[in-house]
Order: sequence, then structure tokens, then C-alpha cells
Amino acid sequence: MNDYANRKTPWITVEGVDGAGKSSQIPVIEESLRKKGYEVLSTREPGGTPLGEKLRSQLLVGKEAMNPDVQLLIAFASRAQHLSDVIIPAVSEGRAVVCDRFTDSSFAYQVHGEGASKNLADLLEREIQKDWQPDLTLVFDLPVESSYERMMKDGKSLDNFESKDFSYFERARKGYHERQKQKPSRIYLIDALQSKNEVSEQVRHTVEDSLNRREMRTTKPVDRNKMKR
Ligand code: TYD
Repeated sequence: MNDYANRKTPWITVEGVDGAGKSSQIPVIEESLRKKGYEVLSTREPGGTPLGEKLRSQLLVGKEAMNPDVQLLIAFASRAQHLSDVIIPAVSEGRAVVCDRFTDSSFAYQVHGEGASKNLADLLEREIQKDWQPDLTLVFDLPVESSYERMMKDGKSLDNFESKDFSYFERARKGYHERQKQKPSRIYLIDALQSKNEVSEQVRHTVEDSLNRREMRTTKPVDRNKMKR
């Protein structure tokens, strides 16, 4: 895998329980990145590569009941291919990446929702990602009643996860809250109950703030020996 230290550009992931409105906010993130001069690559998980898209269908609409640990392995199989073929090359070559869902979904849905092994998830995260973590993760957070209401209103056909019961989504939401507490410098909760404009405003502000802090960290300090006297 490419050297983590050689990454040039930001990588932002977008998360939340289904119906929280993340899809409509992704363009806001892309626009903030472009305004800063970045070329943007948008991708998604599970998926993002030809193999990953096949694994996505298996996970989301496959008819066979799947053991939670197997779900975890499939999500990370897709992720390993996606990281090596798409995400790492992009941020190493200078394109910013916006990824619709990533590892935090596996913790929320598989570990908290389905009861998959947390030790296995920790191990897979450590071994497959090594040092690779997103710069910023936005979790669109919504009470489960509202997320259900929105999903029903959309009227689209539901995948294997969207058709789970209420308590499943409660657990998934708690899973996001727990991850946020463990990784507060990377993960931000966005209150998705606000109006669409208010959510967009908060997204813009959070992304710009993170980009500014990143620029400050990555700008090379002036070499005083080379300064003219
Ligand atoms: P979603 O991102 O909501 O896509 P769409 O808007 O097309 O429905 O759906 C992806 C589903 O995949 C979502 O229900 C959560 C699930 N998922 C997992 O269970 N584990 C994972 O690791 C990932 C990335 C997604």
C-alpha cells in the first residue's frame, strides 16, 4: 500500500442511519472541496470498484440469510479492494475523496445492529486500513422515528438493512454515537432534524473548518536557515 505520509488531499466520509438525508448533502461537501481548489472523486461503500459492487449486491439484496460476521467480512472485502484501487491512489495523486459510508457503517450496522464480533471488526479495521483513516466523518443523526417516516415517504424499495425493525436502527444509531465518543476529532454528528438549509449550512461550516485545520497542519514550516537576512 502507498505510504500514508504521502497522502496529499482530504478524504471525507458520510454516514448515518437510512433516511437521515446524507445523499442530498454530499453535493454540499463536494462544492466546499471544489471551492478550495480540489478535484473531487465521489465514491461509495459497499462498492466503489467492480468487485465491490458485486459484493454490495450480495450484502444488500442477496436472498440468503447471512451470518453477521460474514457480513462484516464482505463489507471489509469490498473495503480492502476499494482502498487499494481507488481511495489511496486518489489521495496520493492529489484528488479529494468523498465516500458515501465507510468503516463506521460496519460498526453501526454489523456490530451494533446485527451483533457481529467487535473484536473481529477492530482487527479488520486495523489490518486492512493500517494508518488510513478519513480526515473527517459527518454522521447525519436523526431519531429513529423520523428516519423511518422519511424512508416510508420516499417509497423506494427497501434493501436488506432498510427493512429491519425499529430496535435495529436504535442500536445502529447508538453505535454511531459510541464511535463518535471514541473518535471525537474525526467524527462529527450533524443534527439532521434541522431544515435542509440549516443542515447544509452546518455541513459547509464543518467541512471548511476541517479543511482549514488540515491546511495548517500540512503547510510546511518556513526553513529559517534559508530565509534572507
Ligand atoms: P445506502 O448508503 O443508504 O445507499 P442507498 O441510498 O442507495 O440505499 O445503503 C447502503 C446500505 O448498506 C445501508 O443500509 C447500510 C449498509 N451497510 C452495512 O450494513 N455495512 C457497511 O459496512 C456499509 C458500508 C453499508
